[in-house]
Amino acid sequence: MRKSLQTFGLSLFIVLAFLVIGIGFLFGIDNPVPWIMIAILIALPMIHKKMTSRKFVAWDDNLSVGIAVIDEDHKKLLSLINNLQTAVLYPTGEAFERQALSELVDYTKYHFAREEKLMQDNDYPDFEPHKEQHEKMIMQVSSYMDAYEKDREATIDELTSFLKTWLINHIAGTDQNYSQFLRDKGIR
Ligand SMILES: [Fe+2]
Repeated sequence: MRKSLQTFGLSLFIVLAFLVIGIGFLFGIDNPVPWIMIAILIALPMIHKKMTSRKFVAWDDNLSVGIAVIDEDHKKLLSLINNLQTAVLYPTGEAFERQALSELVDYTKYHFAREEKLMQDNDYPDFEPHKEQHEKMIMQVSSYMDAYEKDREATIDELTSFLKTWLINHIAGTDQNYSQFLRDKGIR
């Protein structure tokens, strides 16, 4: 509903802008109002692009933990976050949104299991608190998913924001803590 309202509002603004331009020129070519509207219409796609691009995430080498398989997992998670962000920002439809959401949640679980096995197999001393963070996150996602099933439109923005913020902070923070330990064990 919210997305279609936004699309409707934008369409209405564009139609009104063209009307203002047409009527404005009736008062003379030197009337500044239609020229201002033309400038706004030209700038609109750039403003929109700037506003939306900030919502997408990009891989940065500072996020690397120096272990290829984990870095590849993290890159895949960022790409799935961006898929979900696309579903949230654009009228892609419910099926696309649901698929993007389940792919991100499923891959997060798959990745956590891989990371936990690596830590456990190598006797990482902070394995338990790290695993607890994963488990707490999965529980939070699960309660968001229940809310999502009850009210999709009201939940998707907050759920996407939670997944994005949590994963980025975790990759940039907690995951960096095992990097040196595992690398010292020869894991690359
Ligand atoms: Fe982790």
